[in-house]
Amino acid sequence: MTSKPSSLDLDDAWAHVDVAGTRMVDVHMRTLFAEDPGRAQRFSMDAGPLFADFSKHRVDDAAFSTLMALVAAAGLEEYRAAMFRGEHINSTEGRAVGHVALRAGADATFVVDGVNVMPEVTDVLARMRTFTDAVRTGAWQGHTGETITDVVNIGIGGSDLGPLMVCEALAHFGREGLRAHFVSNVDGTHIAKTLTGLNPARTLFIIASKTFTTQETLTNAHSARRWLVEALGDEDSVARHFVAVSTNEAGVRDFGIDPRNMFGFWDWVGGRYSLWSAIGLPIACHIGMDHFESLLRGAREMDQHFASEPLEQNLPVILGALGVWYGRCHDARSHAVLPYDQYLHRLPAFLQQLDMESNGKRVTATGEPASATGPIVWGEPGTNGQHAFYQLLHQGTHLVPVDFIVPARSLNPVGEHHSILLANCIAQSEALMRGKTMGEVLDELRALGLSEADAAALAPHKVFEGNRPSTTLVVECLDPHALGALIALYEHKVFVQGVLFGINSFDQWGVELGKQLAKVIERELDGETNPQAHDASTNALVARLKRQVASTARVDSGT
Ligand code: F6P
Repeated sequence: MTSKPSSLDLDDAWAHVDVAGTRMVDVHMRTLFAEDPGRAQRFSMDAGPLFADFSKHRVDDAAFSTLMALVAAAGLEEYRAAMFRGEHINSTEGRAVGHVALRAGADATFVVDGVNVMPEVTDVLARMRTFTDAVRTGAWQGHTGETITDVVNIGIGGSDLGPLMVCEALAHFGREGLRAHFVSNVDGTHIAKTLTGLNPARTLFIIASKTFTTQETLTNAHSARRWLVEALGDEDSVARHFVAVSTNEAGVRDFGIDPRNMFGFWDWVGGRYSLWSAIGLPIACHIGMDHFESLLRGAREMDQHFASEPLEQNLPVILGALGVWYGRCHDARSHAVLPYDQYLHRLPAFLQQLDMESNGKRVTATGEPASATGPIVWGEPGTNGQHAFYQLLHQGTHLVPVDFIVPARSLNPVGEHHSILLANCIAQSEALMRGKTMGEVLDELRALGLSEADAAALAPHKVFEGNRPSTTLVVECLDPHALGALIALYEHKVFVQGVLFGINSFDQWGVELGKQLAKVIERELDGETNPQAHDASTNALVARLKRQVASTARVDSGT
């Protein structure tokens, strides 16, 4: 693994950032705009199909330069090159990080452990095309000879959120008469509600699990198989109604899926970075392989931008550095993603896994306590959020940097809807930046005829301090190409922040403890007594739920 430049360089770079942060604390963006007519143009750029305006941030040229110097001192260019060279930058799992290979195109070379993986990547894409074409044209038939009308993806985390988010985002490009469904939660309600109304003879299940050991996915997959076999009355029906996406061929075979119906991927693809692999099979079924390849092309364009543009013109670098700036110098703890596009309603949930599973770490890559790591990511589409939590964004005591994402053109033009949507999006970024001063509020209240005393009493509640940062990302319209670039932008932003935090963004040990303890508690709920001692709270919860389950069972059986 490439080593970082000396820690002295990095310490100096942080010190410069801190000085700039202190200097900028009381500088209002209104002043920055007033004093610098070229600001909006200088702090904005095109990157592939995306336009980004990052001028509404609390940085001037000097502060921006300290951030770029920090990125350089942290060794971003070396780490980035190491990723693109297929080195084992996921140090705690001893793996390469190769999602960029999945969209690099057939002519590219990407070497992992001495082997060019591109022929395998291309081969899987070709198999995905053959399979999804067959499903979409009706050439693939179910056990009873009927065509497929419903594809149900069973997976969780990265084997669910990416494909689900993209299928929702690109629903406009979906094929009529072929519906995509997603089951992830082990709560039986999820699969029960999804299967209600589906015709088993026309339903195809994709069991998506990198490891093929994930409890939720296997539990749901077994329930789906029971539902199918009971309905069709034949174990052999599984062959025409179940396919798998996994790195674990033995696990797939043990489950009873023919490995010929398995689409492989590789341990160098992280779950939350896997929608570009065969994990994207439900996407390709839904929108077709041509559109799926446009998605890959959009991501590839962003990869090329990230790999080759100088730091100060490199969008993932800029957005990553700005995010770290607010955590370090302005005590920001969260980051809101606010798409002004209903199709992107699951983007915040997808980005929560991407960012928080990657950068929610307690130690650096070398095992030292990390001083800061990634933000809490959250969000909802606008304009809905405006009528819910924007109050806090505008007047709360937390500073929350915001990303607005908006398409210039609607895929569903209805009357004046889209211009209202656009106006709201732009107005929110303006309001967050400008705010409204006490003087402005008092003038407004006087003009409404309030007495001086009443105006003075009400005014503090109506003041907006402003100076709240946002980035606005604009696409021409939300098509597969633009979406691919947008997702890749966030992937690389997370990479940049991981480098600045000095952490390994590609493991996820933090999810393990809960899984281990759940296994023990499951045995206790099933009747085993105390295989492991717990604290009093946990013991009491187990005992209470056991009692409640038992009494519900008695009521159900009438005893
Ligand atoms: O528990 C977390 C996690 O390992 C994620 O990182 C992953 O995306 C998800 O579970 C699903 O894992 P798998 O694809 O192996 O079922």
